[in-house]
Amino acid sequence: MIDKIKQHIAEVEAFKTESAKEVEAFRIKYLGKKGILNDFFASFKEVPNEQKKEFGQAVNALKKASEAKVTDLKENLESKQEEKGVYGDLSRPGEPIEIGSRHPISIVKNQIIEIFSNIGFNVSEGPEMEDDWHNFTALNLPEYHPARDMQDTFFIQTDPDILLRTHTSSVQVRYMENNKPPIRTISPGRVFRNEAISSRSHCIFHQVEGLYIDKNVSFADLKQTLLYFTKQLFGKSKIRLRPSYFPFTEPSAEVDIYWGLETETDYRITKGTGWLEIMGCGMVDPNVLRNCNIDPTEYSGFAFGMGIERIAMLLYQIGDIRMFYENDIRFLEQFKSSF
Ligand code: PHE
Repeated sequence: MIDKIKQHIAEVEAFKTESAKEVEAFRIKYLGKKGILNDFFASFKEVPNEQKKEFGQAVNALKKASEAKVTDLKENLESKQEEKGVYGDLSRPGEPIEIGSRHPISIVKNQIIEIFSNIGFNVSEGPEMEDDWHNFTALNLPEYHPARDMQDTFFIQTDPDILLRTHTSSVQVRYMENNKPPIRTISPGRVFRNEAISSRSHCIFHQVEGLYIDKNVSFADLKQTLLYFTKQLFGKSKIRLRPSYFPFTEPSAEVDIYWGLETETDYRITKGTGWLEIMGCGMVDPNVLRNCNIDPTEYSGFAFGMGIERIAMLLYQIGDIRMFYENDIRFLEQFKSSF
């Protein structure tokens, strides 16, 4: 009997497996309720007295060996599982996720919105497909008006009354029709003009136009607002207003900022003058206010409008407007760190 036990011990010690099922079968075979060890314990009373001590020691040794084996095999299995686990090898280098970037037009648009929202302007939007009234007639541009030629328009073929808006002034008309003064709003958006495409102009571009209507709004308010804006966006604090003409404003002006003549690029982009034209502006024409049901004897206001592409080209030194629409990843990737 003792020999048999010793044989079992040798068998237990030699046992090897990497299967969880076999470990469990092994445990049941030796340590289970009806297992080999219990059989030996049950036969203890049949062992002659003088052999009891040796027999007991042998059975205990088998028990210990079996328990140790089961623990060993289980630990081994667990460590193998961890290595293979869901994440694989945690020490290997990661695969970084490519971060996208905002389009430069969006970056500049957001900057302009932020600057004006800090002084109480909200953002208004309108349709890209407009009717004649909102794009022209309400803005003091009746059908016969020669200034309609200033803005080469894309008409929708089947209906001469419907067109692609040539400026976001149309949004300001809609805003005035639906809101009472005081009004402080900027209207960013995409506009369309039937122009030849070149490095300087495109048939699709973006504008931000601003409108301020209240009692006693003056030209001085306009100039101060624009000065605040140019300081914030460009860090330039000198502007000049040159008399100009827009049908919807009277008086009207073009706004130039003093860019400086420090570098060769400054010379090139300002044609050696140091001055750069950045937008149009003026006091809202009383006819426009009347068209939008605002009493011009009670209220006055100013409006301004600028092209986002032009400003982005200045800020980022981009030489060709067509680059904004080519979606060349090498171009777009350069704006990754901007907000
Ligand atoms: N709507 C004009 C344009 O598209 C810009 C402008 C807006 C000028 C408001 C004056 C006042 O060129």
